[in-house]
Amino acid sequence: DDNEQPSSMSPEEREAIISAAATNAKPFSIMDTMVTPATKPEFGDYQCNAAMSLAKSAGLNPRECATKIVEGLKSIPGFDDIMEDPEIAGPGFINLKFKDGYLAEAARKMAADANEGGRLAVPKTGHKQKIIVDFSSPNIAKEMHVGHLRSTIIGDTLSNLLEFAGHDVLRLNHVGDWGTQFGMLVEHLRDEFPEALNKETSKNVDLGDLVMLYKAAKKRFDADEDFKVRAREGVVKLQAGDKEALAAWESLCAASRVEYQKYTNRDGSPLPMLIRKSDGGFNYATTDLAAIRHRVQLDPSDGGEKADRVLYVTDAGQSQHFEMVFAAAKKAGFVTDSSLEHVPFGLVQGEDGKKFATRSGDTVKLKDLLDEAIRIAGEDIKSRQDNPDDDLPETLLDVAKTVGIGAVKYADLSMNRESNYKFSYGRMLSLNGNTAPYMLYAYARICGIVRKATGQSEDAKVEWPEACSEIIISHDAEKQLVRNLVKLPDILSEVETDLYPNRLCDYLFETSQKFNQVSYRVI
Ligand code: ARG
Repeated sequence: DDNEQPSSMSPEEREAIISAAATNAKPFSIMDTMVTPATKPEFGDYQCNAAMSLAKSAGLNPRECATKIVEGLKSIPGFDDIMEDPEIAGPGFINLKFKDGYLAEAARKMAADANEGGRLAVPKTGHKQKIIVDFSSPNIAKEMHVGHLRSTIIGDTLSNLLEFAGHDVLRLNHVGDWGTQFGMLVEHLRDEFPEALNKETSKNVDLGDLVMLYKAAKKRFDADEDFKVRAREGVVKLQAGDKEALAAWESLCAASRVEYQKYTNRDGSPLPMLIRKSDGGFNYATTDLAAIRHRVQLDPSDGGEKADRVLYVTDAGQSQHFEMVFAAAKKAGFVTDSSLEHVPFGLVQGEDGKKFATRSGDTVKLKDLLDEAIRIAGEDIKSRQDNPDDDLPETLLDVAKTVGIGAVKYADLSMNRESNYKFSYGRMLSLNGNTAPYMLYAYARICGIVRKATGQSEDAKVEWPEACSEIIISHDAEKQLVRNLVKLPDILSEVETDLYPNRLCDYLFETSQKFNQVSYRVI
């Protein structure tokens, strides 16, 4: 039965439990009855601490109140099939525990849905939304640097997760940086690459190294007063839709796109918000306001997206910018019931807590950073070879790439995104602790066990056994593992709401540890 809830408590089940509790002891808000994951395994799988705070208003003592809630719970049809009799502990804590039979069946359903394209029996959302995730958003004509690292990693992960939940996700790069530096580049192109100003030829002009181009233009800008004036006028022309300037912008965008592709792997007192300057030019806030109209207000027939939720994944330094932009957009009537959310993250710092920079003090280019992680991972693999001086074969170079890039991504995701993050190759590439190498090791080990048990070759991607008729949980370590596994839908829906990917990392780390507590024997 497709509609059957296979694992964990579904949002509907949880809702039913909460509202059953609510009808038995009014008045209070739904927040008071929050059923939360148990803080210790002894307490079961979930706990409800509502009785203590509700007792007074219900005119009962806390234990009586808890008893009433439990009566309400037990009257929910099907409750007994899933949960043991709720237990009231201490002053009125209610402990909820899955039945063993339910756990075994839930695990069986997850296992049967584990192959390519499988969902591990996680149900899709019942409230499908159109969600825009604005992330990465590098600046045109400049190289991506370490500041774009977190936005790219966190935004990518959130997009994948929301899509998995069943939403319609649009990943957007906000190319909203149209300041004076563009006037500068356009005017520089006018002199050095005149073909870039012609619509017919602009996209195919080879502008060479964009960073060099930017530096050359900047040098002229700083040294030549006339050029500076031209640059300022140039950006206003660009914003006014001047044909030559637009062609030049297109050629810069085309060149930037080529650059960015190189980094993709596989997969107080009132502050005014400026939207137009005295010379007629627009700025960052203006493009964001215009973008909001496109994202939530305009109909698709007018080029709009009609999104229900828009997420902006940027550094915390832009919080005020977004606060003002969101407020202005609401005031202007662009936004009615869509939700605009800034998803801020902290700074990337060096191990010393200072600005993360190269030895000479320059910003670190993203490409160099990833290359370095891959190099260190490769060195480590090399040192484990029978002959450490041998070059790595192709397959192991691939492993180094997976481990290196995985380490950078996972280190970022496993941190609370709002904290500043100390970048350390040593820590992120360590085999101990909550790191990518540990997780990859756990994954490889699991695959190894499955291969052995099912007689599959090591050369191909592992296939999970299609069906097993029953899962028998006989040891406590197994039970702890399964209890953890069936919480996957809870964790995913938490991240869907609060947008903290580190919760998922913590969960996966915990799952791997519990997996490693179990002993395996192939018979
Ligand atoms: N390009 C900006 C930066 O590098 C981020 C843009 C974020 N998105 C937005 N809609 N403002 O910091």
